[in-house]
Amino acid sequence: MNFTVFNKKGLWSITLLILLLAIPYGAFAADDEALIKRASQILGPLPASMPADQNPITPEKIKLGKMLYYEPRISVDGAVSCSKCHPVALYGADGLKKSVGHNCKGNPRNDPSVFNAASQISEHWIGNRTSVEDQAKQALIGPPAFGMPSYEAVEKILRSYKEYETLFKAAFPSDKEPVTADNFAKAVGAFERTMITPAPFDAFLSGTKDAMTVQQKRGLGTFIDQGCVGCHFSPYVGGQMYQKFGMFEPYQKYTKSDKVDEGRYAVTKNESDRFVFKVPVLRNVAMTPPYFHDGSVDRLEDAVRIMGKIQLGRDLTKEQVQDIVSFLHALTGKIPEEVSTVPVLPSTE
Ligand code: HEC
Ligand code: HEC
Repeated sequence: MNFTVFNKKGLWSITLLILLLAIPYGAFAADDEALIKRASQILGPLPASMPADQNPITPEKIKLGKMLYYEPRISVDGAVSCSKCHPVALYGADGLKKSVGHNCKGNPRNDPSVFNAASQISEHWIGNRTSVEDQAKQALIGPPAFGMPSYEAVEKILRSYKEYETLFKAAFPSDKEPVTADNFAKAVGAFERTMITPAPFDAFLSGTKDAMTVQQKRGLGTFIDQGCVGCHFSPYVGGQMYQKFGMFEPYQKYTKSDKVDEGRYAVTKNESDRFVFKVPVLRNVAMTPPYFHDGSVDRLEDAVRIMGKIQLGRDLTKEQVQDIVSFLHALTGKIPEEVSTVPVLPSTE
C-alpha cells in the first residue's frame, strides 16, 4: 500500500481539502438551521390529527365514518358519495374544474382537498360551513351534492342496513337512537380529522435536512420573503383567514372566470366581503389541479405567478416561480395507510 499521502505535505493537503469542504458545508448547515427556525415560526409541522372538543375521535367513529364516506346509497340518485368528489387516491379532490353532483348537476365551485382540511377557520371557499361536521351534514341535502329531500330520508335508508345500526351503536353508545344525520356527520368528521399527510417539508422542519432539495429550500425562503406567508400560514399553509382575491387587480382579468363569483359577500352581505375567499390550504397543492375557486387555472406555475401579481403586486421572476413551485411539491405528503385502504360496504342482508 502506498502511504505517501500521509507524508507531511500530504497531510497538509488533506487538512486544506477538509477545511475547504467544511466551510461551505458549515455555511449550508447554518442556513438550514435559520430556515428551519423561520419556517417553524410561521408554518410549522403538521400535528398527528386534527381533534375537536365537540367531536372526540374514536376508533369506532373512524371505522363507521370511513364506510359512510364511500356510501352512495344515501344520495337521491344512488350514485353520489363523498368519495365521488373527494377520491382519496387523487389526494381528496376530483381534478375537475367544477364538481359534478347527483344527476350530473354542476357545482358552482372547484372542490378543495378533504385532506388537512379540518383545522381551518371554516369550510368551503366562502366559509359558509362552520366545521367538517357541519359540512358533511349539509352535503346530504345539498342540491348539487347528495340532493336528498330531508335528513329523515337519509336516516331511513341507513336504518335499513342492520350493519349500520350495529356500527352506529358502537360509535355512539350513549345515544338512544344513534342512527341520525348528526351522528353521520360526527362519524365522517372523525374520519376527516385523521386525514393528515405529513410531507418532506415536515421532515425538514424536524431536522432531516436532506428531506428537501436545494431548490425546494430556496423556494421556501422565497415563499416567506415574498410575503406568501402573510396569508398562507400555519402548518396547513393556509385555511386561517379570509382575503380578497385580487388585492391589486381584479382576479377576473387573470383567471378568465366564466362567471363572477362575489365570494364571502354572499354569506355576510358586507360590501367589504365582495370577492373575499378563504385563503386555501396549500398542503398537496401540486396534486390537486385545477386551481382557484373556479378551477380556471390548470398549471401551478400560473397560479403562483398570478398570486404574486394580484395578491402582492409583484412580478415574480421565472426562477422565483419555479423555486416556489418546487417548494410546494415538498408539501405533497404521504396518505396514511389507515386512510387509503377501502372499506367493504354493508349488504342489504
Ligand atoms: C358533488 C360533489 C361533492 C360531494 C358529493 C361532496 N363534496 Fe365536498 N366539496 C365539493 C365542492 C364543490 C366543495 C367546495 C364548495 C364551496 O366552497 O362552495 C367541497 C368542499 C368540501 C370541504 C371543504 C374543504 C375546504 O378546504 O374548505 C370538505 C371538508 C368537504 N367538501 C368534504 C366532503 C364530505 C365529507 C362529503 C361527504 C359527506 C362531501 N364533501 C361531498 C364537492 C363535493
Ligand atoms: C393577500 C393574501 C394572499 C397572499 C399574499 C397570497 N395568497 Fe395565495 N391565495 C389567497 C387567496 C384568497 C386564494 C384563493 C383564491 C380563489 O378564490 O381562488 C389563494 C390561492 C392560492 C393558490 C391556489 C390554491 C388552490 O388550491 O386552488 C395558490 C397555489 C397560492 N394561493 C399560492 C400563493 C403563493 C405562492 C403566494 C406568494 C407568491 C401567495 N399565494 C400569496 C391569498 C393570498
